[in-house]
Amino acid sequence: SAYAAPLSPDFAACHDSTDPDKKPIDCCPPGTVPAEVPTYVPTATKVNTRLAAQLVDDNWLAKYKKALTAMRKLDDSDPRSFKAQANVHCAYCNGGYYQAGYEASKLILDVHFSWIFFPFHRWYLYFFERICQKYADDDTFAIPFWNWDSPSGMFLPSIFKDSSSPLYDSLRNSNHLTKVLDLNYDGTDTSDSTITVIKNNLITMKKQMVTQSTTAAAFFGKSFLAGDASDPGAGTIETTPHNNVHRWVGDPNESHGEDMGAFYSAGRDPVFYCHHANVDRMWNIWNSLGGQNFTDSDWLNSSFYFYNEEAQLVKVFVKDCVNTKLLGYDYQDVGIPWLYSTS
Ligand code: C2O
Repeated sequence: SAYAAPLSPDFAACHDSTDPDKKPIDCCPPGTVPAEVPTYVPTATKVNTRLAAQLVDDNWLAKYKKALTAMRKLDDSDPRSFKAQANVHCAYCNGGYYQAGYEASKLILDVHFSWIFFPFHRWYLYFFERICQKYADDDTFAIPFWNWDSPSGMFLPSIFKDSSSPLYDSLRNSNHLTKVLDLNYDGTDTSDSTITVIKNNLITMKKQMVTQSTTAAAFFGKSFLAGDASDPGAGTIETTPHNNVHRWVGDPNESHGEDMGAFYSAGRDPVFYCHHANVDRMWNIWNSLGGQNFTDSDWLNSSFYFYNEEAQLVKVFVKDCVNTKLLGYDYQDVGIPWLYSTS
């Protein structure tokens, strides 16, 4: 490669993404890109608690509905609109950005299947949550997590099922609304009993979080440097259950399992942010079990761009998202039932 530099998107030159039919789709964020984009380093002084989705109360739900209703009403030209937030995922996954410095060779930056999977999605949810706080008019608000690693959370959380709610999305698998979630779902429904699926889910969690995740590369995914082709290799959790849960939620009658089953459309379903909060929680749990983050400067200095709650563009670095307390949130302690599962 011409020169080595940590990975970063050429944000200002966002171009059409490619949908699963190989057709161009415009997922670029609305808004202007200033010549100088400030770096944002969070220094939270209070810590909000992200709650398990099956445990939230009506007061909390009213706030989330208020926020999502407002975001759905914002004009598409506002980067904080629900539509623009969903498209953040599309642009960063479906080829909307070239790698800075590698535009000429048309090297795409895809945030999946590599060591930037966890940090990218952490930052994405961070700004989504701050936009929710703004429109809920409550800076203590925190998004929920889908506690799919615990038996009580192994169903689609009920808050997403009310068709009159802003948390609803019609493009989902209607056969799964009351079925136990299969963390190993491969597109075919299992005939196993609910009890057996739950037992296998717990075994899978222990395997992905402990047995198979003994190194940073195993857990996060393979190294992805500027100048590399995208998708060098995913970590344990990204592969299973992350991908399986996407596919389990999406509508199999849609050509690509929309919404949750396809990268370009996944962010259109509010379940996406709840699913990813639990993926993000797995990073904290893995650290609490002794897992050590990468220390490579190429990982720490990889960067992304996001519009914040004031619709201002900021640049953020992986190194500034490794401690969620500094980001102003933590996860409700609901136990780790899979830690004790034996196959
Ligand atoms: Cu960006 Cu769940 O994928």
